[in-house]
Amino acid sequence: MTKDLLKLLDLSKEDIVKILNTADQLKYEQKHGIAQDHLHGKTLAMIFEKNSTRTRVSFEAGMFQLGGHALFLSGKESQIGRGEPVEDTARVLDRYCDGIMIRTFAQEEVEELARYTRIPVINGLTDFCHPCQVLADLLTIREHKAVLEGLKLCYIGDGNNMANSLIVGGLKCGMEVSVACPQGYDPAPQVLEFAKSDPAHTFSLHRTPQEAAVHADVLVTDVWASMGQEEEKAVREKAFAGYQVNAELLALANEGCMVQHCLPAHRGEEITAEVFEAHAEEIFDEAENRLHAQKAVMYLLMGDKNG
Ligand code: CP
Ligand code: NVA
Repeated sequence: MTKDLLKLLDLSKEDIVKILNTADQLKYEQKHGIAQDHLHGKTLAMIFEKNSTRTRVSFEAGMFQLGGHALFLSGKESQIGRGEPVEDTARVLDRYCDGIMIRTFAQEEVEELARYTRIPVINGLTDFCHPCQVLADLLTIREHKAVLEGLKLCYIGDGNNMANSLIVGGLKCGMEVSVACPQGYDPAPQVLEFAKSDPAHTFSLHRTPQEAAVHADVLVTDVWASMGQEEEKAVREKAFAGYQVNAELLALANEGCMVQHCLPAHRGEEITAEVFEAHAEEIFDEAENRLHAQKAVMYLLMGDKNG
């Protein structure tokens, strides 16, 4: 394993499979009341420069379940919010804690933090990617469909952090990946370059959701305006009209097609209330699996002999 989890581009297929298998094991243990004291006495610092419900709670609960402790640092209330350089914050936390989870805007800030620390740094979402979420998505899809290889994963909407991580994670796991987004809202160039160079040639980018959704085994979507894009909301509502997971789109997909949404969801925008509720079990399994996937990441990166 790598020292950090900064983005899925840094992981091999074997690393991803190891995380998913470890997550399955930890989930089984937790459901059967088997003690999981693997991170006894260890501390995770969690830096949040954006809002969160799932990420904060799943990391904090997960760390507690593993016998360790997690502490919440708000970007605004810590000295980070007053401009203390990230390289100094990194070297301080390195001396108190055993790992850092950070949710922020620029991917470069997370990469910089990792360069200045000996302890693992875990990306809890940046504008560029959301690796922990997509590990949970892959775990959920594998649970429901038994395999990942050969399945068609289709993402509808903004070429944002979720799109970037789904493309990389899906392709690395041998899935076919199709994406539909409006012109001007493409996934990151670095991700498209990776996708186009994938030897299996199973990636496709479309301008209509209908083209992308044909024969999909999993349909995924995300909000039209991400955190930090609140002022673009009106412009984005126009640009993304029609980029919606609804019953008509689902009818083009394969029988038994799953629906995934990282949440929070905006019913009536990127997904209809009808489709959301019909697939709520899969969507909340996905939310639950944040806990198990992240426990696996922390176990593998922060445990004593696990890497
Ligand atoms: N999906 C996700 O990351 O949720 P939060 O923003 O609530 O952490
Ligand atoms: N794309 C969304 C994901 C939230 C979990 C955002 O960045 O706000």
